[in-house]
Amino acid sequence: MKKNVALIFGGKSGEHEVSLSSACSIYNNIDKQKYNIYTIGITKQGDWMYYEGDSENIKNGNWVNLSNKNAKINLIPTKDKKIGIEVEDKFYEIDVFFPVIHGPYGEDGTIQGLFEISNIPYVGCSVLSSSIGMDKIMCKKIFKEGNLPQVEFAYTTEFEFKKDKEKVISDIEKSIKYPMFVKPANLGSSVGISKVKTKDELEKAISEALKYDRRVIIEQGINAREIEVSVLGNDEVYASVAGEIIPAKEFYDYEAKYISESSKLLIPASIDENLMEKVRDMAIKAFKMIDGCGLARVDFFIDKDTNEIYINEINTMPGFTKISMYPKLWEASGIKYKDLIDKLIDLAIERFNQKNSKEVCK
Ligand SMILES: Nc1ncnc2c1ncn2[C@@H]1O[C@H](COP(=O)(O)OP(=O)(O)O)[C@@H](O)[C@H]1O
Ligand SMILES: [Mg+2]
Repeated sequence: MKKNVALIFGGKSGEHEVSLSSACSIYNNIDKQKYNIYTIGITKQGDWMYYEGDSENIKNGNWVNLSNKNAKINLIPTKDKKIGIEVEDKFYEIDVFFPVIHGPYGEDGTIQGLFEISNIPYVGCSVLSSSIGMDKIMCKKIFKEGNLPQVEFAYTTEFEFKKDKEKVISDIEKSIKYPMFVKPANLGSSVGISKVKTKDELEKAISEALKYDRRVIIEQGINAREIEVSVLGNDEVYASVAGEIIPAKEFYDYEAKYISESSKLLIPASIDENLMEKVRDMAIKAFKMIDGCGLARVDFFIDKDTNEIYINEINTMPGFTKISMYPKLWEASGIKYKDLIDKLIDLAIERFNQKNSKEVCK
């Protein structure tokens, strides 16, 4: 029996376009012998729409105008209606959700919560692991518990900062040296992030980051090489070889990530065997620390001056185009893009069955 997979893409975050590219690649490469694929796009305003047609229209954004305005997407279970898509007189029941949405409302546990309510398997991390992975402050606290090496960090809130800027700044300066990185706690794609070298810049950068989030993290800036590892699995977790990003700019900001062509991926990373093993182990440990399932990409820094290694972050829905780091690392480790999609769907069903076998709400 073919399974009905609902590929969900787009979304309200700044990474909307990346999501469209990832979805187009998944659509083109998913095994059509095994799966019927239904595409649901979420506009930048947050509207869910059913789109049926050429995958190129997903990538170029035309799906919004071409989507079927009469289709109804049923996500909340009721007595007389299953979870699925109602199009004219047809009803496509959904067996698995494949959300490929990055950043807030896609990677932060919110959409995962909706799938839990729907009671349908979904690809990727759970509500809890997604929300921890997305929150740079919580994630650092969890990694600390696992003794994973991290740069020094501090955090503040809009409330604290408005109440007493001087105290917040002087507390940060007591524990961290310049340069520092200032980041909104919950965002992605380098939005709202600044590198600062003076007190004046620090104050401005916190205000800037507070435009995006109530909470802000401040980190010790290092002269970093950027190393990334892909992980895959539920209870049995595997790590790919590590890759390295050679950014086109001083740091891997939005422009270097998505606009400029000159950032390069080096696979495998040019590190010795020992370090390679170490980062792969750390990637698995980080994934387990947040109780991840399905997939994640774990990002590290290697200090160019001291060769120390630090974990930077875990991305629970990494970029997934055919040329993105996540699938590329698996390709270099022996899993083809098409098989990776298959594996992720199997893992979604495995985790769903595991959860549903427990005596919780029966
Ligand atoms: N503590 C740091 N030291 C040096 N560079 C950093 C530091 N934190 C972030 N960066 C640079 O900024 C980029 C974006 O930061 P990151 O925390 O990965 O945010 P995002 O979630 O937006 O990807 C990193 O890829 C790196 O180039
Ligand atoms: Mg990052």
